[in-house]
Amino acid sequence: MGVFASTDDPGSAGHEQVVFCQDKQSGLKAIIGIYSTALGPALGGTRFYPYASEEAALADVLDLSRGMAYKNALAGLDLGGGKAVIWGDPERVKSEALLRAYGRFVQSLAGRYYTACDVGTYVADMDVIARETRYVTGRSVEHGGAGDSSVLTAWGVFQGMRAAAEHVWGVPTLRGRRVGVAGLGKVGKHLTGHLVDDGAEVVATDVDPRALEWVRATHPRVELVTDASALVAADIDVYAPCALGGALNDDTVPALRARVVAGAANNQLAHPGIEKLLADRGILYAPDYVVNAGGVIQVADEIEGFNFDRAKLRATRIYDTTRQILRLADDEGVPPAVAADRLAERRMADVGRLRTIHLR
Ligand SMILES: NC(=O)c1ccc[n+]([C@@H]2O[C@H](COP(=O)([O-])OP(=O)(O)OC[C@H]3O[C@@H](n4cnc5c(N)ncnc54)[C@H](O)[C@@H]3O)[C@@H](O)[C@H]2O)c1
Repeated sequence: MGVFASTDDPGSAGHEQVVFCQDKQSGLKAIIGIYSTALGPALGGTRFYPYASEEAALADVLDLSRGMAYKNALAGLDLGGGKAVIWGDPERVKSEALLRAYGRFVQSLAGRYYTACDVGTYVADMDVIARETRYVTGRSVEHGGAGDSSVLTAWGVFQGMRAAAEHVWGVPTLRGRRVGVAGLGKVGKHLTGHLVDDGAEVVATDVDPRALEWVRATHPRVELVTDASALVAADIDVYAPCALGGALNDDTVPALRARVVAGAANNQLAHPGIEKLLADRGILYAPDYVVNAGGVIQVADEIEGFNFDRAKLRATRIYDTTRQILRLADDEGVPPAVAADRLAERRMADVGRLRTIHLR
């Protein structure tokens, strides 16, 4: 295990600690990135992915762990930000021994880092990792876990959308609004249910015919369009990207007719500057990492012994946080994405500083 812990090493991009893990026999090669523990232990998932190089794996873990620090800070959690990557093709190299070897490295950090699911890792994998470490969330319900995190992710997105609706139209409801949902996967399905219950008209799309069949059977009044570009160009009030990242780009933003964007997908802004393009077009963007934090709120609750009602209450507060960010953006004359970053940095600094008041 190689470790470097420095805030001024340019390779670590301001991270507290980056840990390289290797176990030759099982084939494990992993990097754990801890961006910040200012608010508590760093929480973030493990991405299992066949990166082209170690540099690519390192760049991803540095980026993702920083993002988690901001997300956890604004979710109101007493948790810092971290993330891990396992470098390899999960289809070929994932095994019990590899996952347990990884679990031992997580355990060796003695609680500075809690892991969870991400691309390429699943609830069943977390149960295996948990045989070697206490510092794991996202386990199965049978093992004391929080279960499917898309339930509260969708609930949180709905709360963020309500706050954005209030900011633009003066009322915290989607009743009578046309909402376009791109991606009817785990989150998109739950979100569609909340919107229909709230009295919204939903227009949706998905590339998977099974998802379309589901919506026809469950919500027959939902209108379906051929693809995401048709949805972007449709006469909608709110656009909810719930599929892949990069949904807001140089092609989609000029074509978008919605006044509000609020959706579950991670990394919706294709590149820096898109947030300005949205603001210039008068489109209110509820930052993705703020409104989609219900999932991390759900799994983080496992650390205290999972309680769905408590986690749901916390996810409901995404409404208040989104409101606060939109007001701050107006007050400071910046796009909401910038206001969100400022608020997260403020909490990390203000609450993180309290650790200098020594208890013993
Ligand atoms: N599940 C969570 O708890 C959670 C938490 C935070 C963020 N997110 C993010 O939310 C998004 C959705 O997550 P999910 O768990 O529902 O994933 P999912 O894989 O269950 O669903 C994604 C859906 O998008 C569809 N899709 C893919 N490409 C598309 C396209 N070009 N046009 C239309 N539809 C397309 C897929 O067919 C699938 O139905 C992802 O970006 C994910 O990273 C999820």
